[in-house]
Amino acid sequence: MTEKLLISLTVNGRRHDDLVIESRYTLVDVLRHHVGLTGTHVGCEHGVCGACTVLLDGAPVRACLIFAAQAEGREIRTVESLSHGGELNDLQRAFSACHGLQCGFCTPGFLMLAEGFLAERPDATREEIREVVSSNLCRCTGYQSIVDAIEQCARGRREAQGEAR
Ligand code: FES
Ligand code: FES
Repeated sequence: MTEKLLISLTVNGRRHDDLVIESRYTLVDVLRHHVGLTGTHVGCEHGVCGACTVLLDGAPVRACLIFAAQAEGREIRTVESLSHGGELNDLQRAFSACHGLQCGFCTPGFLMLAEGFLAERPDATREEIREVVSSNLCRCTGYQSIVDAIEQCARGRREAQGEAR
C-alpha cells in the first residue's frame, strides 16, 4: 500500500498546509502539481541537468533529488520569487539583456543557481561563475551569454551596494 503523508511547505514565504502526498513524491513534483508553481522545470529527473534547481534555506539544490517531505520546515524559493509585481528582478533583466536564454527551458534552474551563488559570493570572478554554471545543462546558448548575464548582475549589485554606503 502506498504511504500517504500530510505535510506543509513554505514556498516563497508562503506556507502551504494540508499537502497530502505520497512519500515517494519529489520536491519538484509537489511544487509543480500540488503547490501549482510550474516555473521550476523538470528535465532529466536524475540530478544531471539542473533544470529543477530551487533554493533550500538559501542554497541551490536539485528538486528532483529531494523528497518533498524532506523539505518540510525549510525555506524553499522558486523562480517565481524573483519578480515582484510583474517586474523582473535585476538577474532576470541581465539574462534578457545578455541573451542568456533561447528556448528558456533551462533558465529557471540557471536563475536560481545564480541567485543562490551570488548571495554567497557577491564578489565572484568570471572564472568562478563559469565553474558554477558548469553544473547545469543548456543546449542552446553555449554558456557565454549566461556567464555574461550573471557577471553583469553581480557588477550591478556591487555598484548599488557601493552607492548605498
Ligand atoms: S530535472 Fe533535476 S537535475 Fe534534471
Ligand atoms: S536556453 Fe534552451 S536549453 Fe538553455
